Amino acid sequence: MQLKKENILIVDDDISILELIQRHLQSWNYHTYKAVSVKEAVQILRDTPIDLLITDLKMPEIDGFELIKFVSEHYPKLPKLVVTGYPSVQDSLHAIKSGVIDYLTKPFTKAELQSAVENSMKSNTDKNQFTAKPSEEKNKPYGDIIGSSEKIHEIIQIIERVKDNKATIFISGESGTGKELVARAIHYQGKFSRAPFIAVNCGGIPENLLESELFGYTKGAFTGAEKNRDGFFQAANGGTIFLDEIGNASKAVQSRLLRVLQEKEVVKVGAQKAEKIDIRIIAATNSDLKEMIKNELFREDLYYRLTVVEIEVAPLRDRKEDIPLLTEKFLFKYGVEYKDRLIKLSPEATAVLQRYDWPGNIRELENVIQRAVIMCDRIIEIEHLPDSLKYSITFPEDGLLPLKEVEKRYIQKVLHSTNDNKTKAAEILGIDRKTIRQKLSE
Ligand SMILES: Nc1ncnc2c1ncn2[C@@H]1O[C@H](COP(=O)(O)OP(=O)(O)OP(=O)(O)O)[C@@H](O)[C@H]1O
Ligand SMILES: [Mg+2]
Repeated sequence: MQLKKENILIVDDDISILELIQRHLQSWNYHTYKAVSVKEAVQILRDTPIDLLITDLKMPEIDGFELIKFVSEHYPKLPKLVVTGYPSVQDSLHAIKSGVIDYLTKPFTKAELQSAVENSMKSNTDKNQFTAKPSEEKNKPYGDIIGSSEKIHEIIQIIERVKDNKATIFISGESGTGKELVARAIHYQGKFSRAPFIAVNCGGIPENLLESELFGYTKGAFTGAEKNRDGFFQAANGGTIFLDEIGNASKAVQSRLLRVLQEKEVVKVGAQKAEKIDIRIIAATNSDLKEMIKNELFREDLYYRLTVVEIEVAPLRDRKEDIPLLTEKFLFKYGVEYKDRLIKLSPEATAVLQRYDWPGNIRELENVIQRAVIMCDRIIEIEHLPDSLKYSITFPEDGLLPLKEVEKRYIQKVLHSTNDNKTKAAEILGIDRKTIRQKLSE
């Protein structure tokens, strides 16, 4: 039997319906995947390229609405066919703005299923192109990159420009801002995505090994070099090498890199002959290379060759608009992973996340949500957030405050987060209750 190339994922908690649909689909030679819960469906979606999602709406734990929302965000092009016993749900589905969705009302005949499947597969891609409005487009993830801020939008536009060529790219940004994520998106969204993507943490490999690890070595190049060996550059040939923490590369590595960039060739350690290489180099760092150049720790000529295209990934505090979407993603991810259900965030906790400065950026946000999901029951409250967030203090942007005022506001803040429990607040502040009252009345 010849399988059609389409993979169809069927999600329904009712096994009999699941199997009925599967039997029909198989009789038309589609390849099918089954999931009896949203959690399983998400796992399959992660591992397998799916061409059509057929889902029920009413399911225990997490329902089909959430799955539709998840799919619309993460796989915006994936056609969706909703099989429902309640035709009236169409309206509520539109209300969650999930793009184009086709429906099939239960009970259905085999012929109805067939035409619904065929229609949604062929029409969804076209419909998407026409109905996607720019404003909605902005919230859709790009690869794994989430964000609705202007800054993320600009990055995506650069990626679109560079993904199909081999220009050298330099990504700068604080720790945890998503530099590696951007590098992966450049590779995997582009036309060389089938070639290898190799990430090398130049800070994680001992300095004396980095050179031979990157460029390979010949037999006898150094003690222990018993045969010729390829390095990461040869391994990534045709694709992308991502040189993370480039600021940690020694001067020797730097001059070899310069040669790769200038001549498009690599010389193994211990070799005379160069090998031609066709590779895209993406370098990243969170250290200040300009400062390193001044101190003669980094070669200026290399710097300019690396920065053919520059991408600056802004810290999260400069694009706080992205916090809600990111939070939603992490809530979903860890809710499914740890609690088998969707975890919500209280308005108070939301406000704290929005107010905080996020020195560890997206990675810190993810860790905070992960921990809070574990700690909470169904809803994340302020008490489930780490102390550093609860009691973080933000100064108003419109000027600095007298110490007395800062003190007063801080006391109020601690009181608020302890639900006005003065004993607790006094403990946190390291003063006694009387002093709190006194300071507030002053
Ligand atoms: N815009 C984003 N959307 C979704 N996830 C993100 C985004 N930015 C970062 N992340 C997630 O945050 C984590 C940190 O990102 P990444 O490793 O790319 O940061 P980095 O800038 O390379 O950090 P470091 O300098 O510490 O290596 C990853 O788990 C990544 O998936
Ligand atoms: Mg990184």
